[in-house]
Amino acid sequence: MPQVRFLPKEVEVECKSGTNLMELAADAGIELKAVCGGAGSCGKCQVIVNEGEVEILDQGNLSPDKLNQGYVLACKTEVATDVTIEIPPESRLSKHQVFIDEKAEEEDKLLTEEELELQGKFEISPIYTRMSLELEEPSLVSNAGDLERLYTELNRNRGSLPALRTPLPVLKDLAGHLRENDWQTQVSVTRVTEDYGEIVELNPIDDQQADYGIAVDIGTTTVVLELVDLEQGKVVATEGAYNRQANFGDDIIGRINFAKEKDGGLDRLHQAIIKTINELIDQAVESAGIAQDDIKTAVFAGNTTMVHLFLGIDPNNIRIDPYIPTVNFVPPLRAQELGINIKDNGWLHCLPGVSSFVGGDITSGTLATNISEQEKITLFIDIGTNGELVLGNQDWLMTCSCSAGPAFEGGGITHGMRAMAGAIEFFEIDAESYQVKYSTVNDAPPIGICGSGLINLLAILEETGIIGRSGQFDMDLDTDRLRETDYDKEFVLVWAEEAGIDEDIVISENDIKNLLRSKGAIYAGIRMMLQNMSLQEEFIEQVFIAGGFGHYINLEDALKIGLLPDLPLDRFTFVGNTSLKGARMSLLSEEKFEEVQEIANKMTYLELSAESQSQDFMDEFVAAQFIPHTDLSLFPSVTG
Ligand code: FES
Repeated sequence: MPQVRFLPKEVEVECKSGTNLMELAADAGIELKAVCGGAGSCGKCQVIVNEGEVEILDQGNLSPDKLNQGYVLACKTEVATDVTIEIPPESRLSKHQVFIDEKAEEEDKLLTEEELELQGKFEISPIYTRMSLELEEPSLVSNAGDLERLYTELNRNRGSLPALRTPLPVLKDLAGHLRENDWQTQVSVTRVTEDYGEIVELNPIDDQQADYGIAVDIGTTTVVLELVDLEQGKVVATEGAYNRQANFGDDIIGRINFAKEKDGGLDRLHQAIIKTINELIDQAVESAGIAQDDIKTAVFAGNTTMVHLFLGIDPNNIRIDPYIPTVNFVPPLRAQELGINIKDNGWLHCLPGVSSFVGGDITSGTLATNISEQEKITLFIDIGTNGELVLGNQDWLMTCSCSAGPAFEGGGITHGMRAMAGAIEFFEIDAESYQVKYSTVNDAPPIGICGSGLINLLAILEETGIIGRSGQFDMDLDTDRLRETDYDKEFVLVWAEEAGIDEDIVISENDIKNLLRSKGAIYAGIRMMLQNMSLQEEFIEQVFIAGGFGHYINLEDALKIGLLPDLPLDRFTFVGNTSLKGARMSLLSEEKFEEVQEIANKMTYLELSAESQSQDFMDEFVAAQFIPHTDLSLFPSVTG
């Protein structure tokens, strides 16, 4: 069987001849970009065959030069003999910034006291809790059954409990346990749904065990997990990693395609996310010095596709008109049903979604920002692959997803990339000489441009006159950085000699079109929600920008290009990973656990492709594909 050696990680694996290189890399734990999920169209999975023979099924859009240097598309190449495969820096997924620890602290510093209070204040009443009880001893005149006696005492201690069920194994132990412990017991109770709970176990009154829970944000790109001490209400470990599914497609559509079209694709994606989460649990457990069995329950927040794949449910209908998911309100599941490594009989809860494109990450974010409890009309924006929006207050909530595409995450942009080492996040361009200065994540040699860099770049290109308001280059400018290729026009940002890759880093006219489409979709989505509620932009009293990407946006640039409504800067707040925060709140508060269900029930979903909306959306979308907009009166502070 051929041996395959992956560089620079020096990972060696054995495989059958004919094995697909991208799938082999995924199995070997090599993190490789795969934006299109192996369709051969994105060109991001390029690897170099240093030694040995491979079978190239499709060369994709690789230039003759690259083919001569041994570049192939991993997704369209099969192993033939022993080979050495080099993963060039631009194709690696490693060192992505997962927003944990200091990042989270930094985020919190951006919040005012008032905002922290809004998000942070709730009474700790975890969904899994234990109580010490002393039961009245039975007698001939107090002859209630053991279980009824336990319920009476539980109700007395805990006020209004939801209906309780007691599993048979607990019931079988009950009589012996109470009598051996002189009618004193520590009883563990967990919420199963908003309507009922369960008695999980009985322990002696002096039992000192601590109970933990996990809150997990299942992002399409990254997964972040918090290990929470339920009694103290404290996060004791935070771990983050790439979602291992990224090896099979960058965005949800790529993943859905992979699940549908590849043999065993759905199971591979399902196993990839289970593995990602279990690895994070291992790390968290080790760093906190506890056992996996100490984790008694878990709350997950993710978009609808991620939740389907987490459950191993075919997500295909999500992308087919009329876009109906299998489930929005996922019933609770036992840990062992999914193979999640917490206590076997622990309950797993997925926060509810609203539609195929507005999932539990958004209801979680709405919970975390307390929108549904405030008088102020609030706009919540989560810019990822789709650009999900929520508008509303305590009286009403509207939500929509505006198919922004992955441009701000680097997808569909020649040198676009996520915010990892070497990504350019800030530019300066001299308006006369067109010399370019830049700064990169971790000060590493530049290998591409991340989302915040792209927003900044778009604003600067327009400001310096390199592009016009419609995004077209002014080819009359006197600079060798502007050039025309066989396929497109482009501006050179970094010459190959200074770059961390073997080619010039450029922005093309087509890239700019994609960025304008993305920002136009988000802005048009905002306008559509306002229109449906008969509101003007100035009625928006506060704007929350969620997600790791949002954290780095320069607000002034975002207003200049017309991505965000032209409101005073002090109305905007970066709120970080609200999907994770909402999951943690649901874990730590029964009230919040119920509230997120109410939020999902209360939200009105605006389907922008529905007949009643689509023409207006199209008009808004077209108008928003200019910098900042065709209607300059919408951006008075930007256009002076
Ligand atoms: Fe291989 Fe897109 S071209 S993953």
